[in-house]
Amino acid sequence: MILLGLNIDHCATVRQARYRAAGAAVGGVIEPDPVALALEAERAGADGITAHLREDRRHVQDRDIHRLRESIATRLNLEMACTPEMTELALAIKPDSVCLVPESREEITTEGGLDVVRNRDRVQACVDAMNAAGIKTSLFIDPDEPQIELSAKLGAPWIELHTGAYANAYHGSQRAAELQRLRVGCVQGHQLGLVVNAGHGINYVNIAEVRSLPHLHELNIGHSIISRALFTGIAEAVREMKRRMNA
Ligand code: PXP
Repeated sequence: MILLGLNIDHCATVRQARYRAAGAAVGGVIEPDPVALALEAERAGADGITAHLREDRRHVQDRDIHRLRESIATRLNLEMACTPEMTELALAIKPDSVCLVPESREEITTEGGLDVVRNRDRVQACVDAMNAAGIKTSLFIDPDEPQIELSAKLGAPWIELHTGAYANAYHGSQRAAELQRLRVGCVQGHQLGLVVNAGHGINYVNIAEVRSLPHLHELNIGHSIISRALFTGIAEAVREMKRRMNA
């Protein structure tokens, strides 16, 4: 069974669009509350909650992360940049896992994953700190052989393969090739002993193909579920995605 990590960033984006100056206060007219959304999603079957605390705090706020840590019953996956400041913050909050994602131009590959090869020392420092603290590290990388190979060498237990290039190619000529790239990446990661997750751009349609990838442990999905929740509510949006993931 493939697990679902719900990414709640876009709920916080809607809140910040109106209440940026008010901060992440609880209750009252300050809505929508991403923590309330996370709790309802868990009750509907989400297996974990993912939130990206960006350095510019564009959507999720520090207070959201603290409240999630105190209240959710599943797993907290903190997406973050690979910097000393964020490493320190993660060690204080103690999420169940961190997912290292690129935030600056130098860290990013052409496809949008974290360039582990070019940022080897920084990534190694963060992985070492998390391993010592008992926090799992996931590296958000393109499905490319050198990135996957080095991720295993650096001692990260998990990778999250970037599905964005596949999702963007869904209506184009490269769709089958991008799916095959992901398939090869899943097999390589598994053979190297990595737990293989995937995410970005997964929706209620392309999930029919994504779920066929081998060795998938968890999918991190945000935009499509939050969007559908506007019409169905978050519980039904989560249930329907889980049905399609494991149909
Ligand atoms: N995985 C990672 C590492 C992400 O940064 C994001 C958000 O961009 C997602 C998964 C979820 O992507 P989406 O919102 O397109 O489902």
